[in-house]
Amino acid sequence: MFISFEGIDGSGKGTQIQLFTQYLERKGIECVTVHEPGSTNVGEMIRQLLLNKNLKIDPKAELFLFLASRAQLVNEVIVPALRKGKVVVSDRFIDSSVAYQGAGRDIGIEAVENLNRFATSGIKPDITFYLDIKPETAFIRKKLADRMEMNGINFLKRVRESYLTLASKEPNRIIIVNAEMDIQTIHAEIVKFFEEFVKQKNYWNILEKIQSK
Ligand code: TYD
Repeated sequence: MFISFEGIDGSGKGTQIQLFTQYLERKGIECVTVHEPGSTNVGEMIRQLLLNKNLKIDPKAELFLFLASRAQLVNEVIVPALRKGKVVVSDRFIDSSVAYQGAGRDIGIEAVENLNRFATSGIKPDITFYLDIKPETAFIRKKLADRMEMNGINFLKRVRESYLTLASKEPNRIIIVNAEMDIQTIHAEIVKFFEEFVKQKNYWNILEKIQSK
């Protein structure tokens, strides 16, 4: 099973991913956690370029750098882990490019969706937890510091709108979580949805583990 977490910078994604993977470990469910851009040697080098405040990167070049990191990650880590029956948890995936480059940078949604499909060979998460917060809240929560975080509130507003549109287009995959609630309430909601999904889709090997502990 492939699960991604999405949200604007400062949405609390990192904390929720940590709580969720700790939950999987407690249940004895084997998982591999990755973050984008990065999680491979090639990807970490690309990440340094992308977050470097001293670089001025053309929007299309930026898109291709994110996609290059993703292509490497899919082939080097995600597909092999899924083949071994592991749960893969990814901090960001295809939807980040649609929201940040497609809408935020205004490259166009359809172009980014097509290029995403090419870069990933069509692999999509089974579940995407989108942690929704207002950009105003994000700005209060987080000292935004890297190159991607210097885009300002209007950029993040476009990104958020795009995430919400994506979620309305794919309601079976993208689950909107109100990330303005407290940490444990958000975590409980994510676990509840995950357990229901496992039952509904008959992931027997995972279900056994959920019920045994
Ligand atoms: P990171 O430090 O990992 O931020 P976060 O903890 O919020 O995920 O930096 C990733 C930045 O790159 C973040 O601002 C979102 C952006 N991004 C894109 O613009 N497009 C993408 O396809 C991906 C994966 C990330």
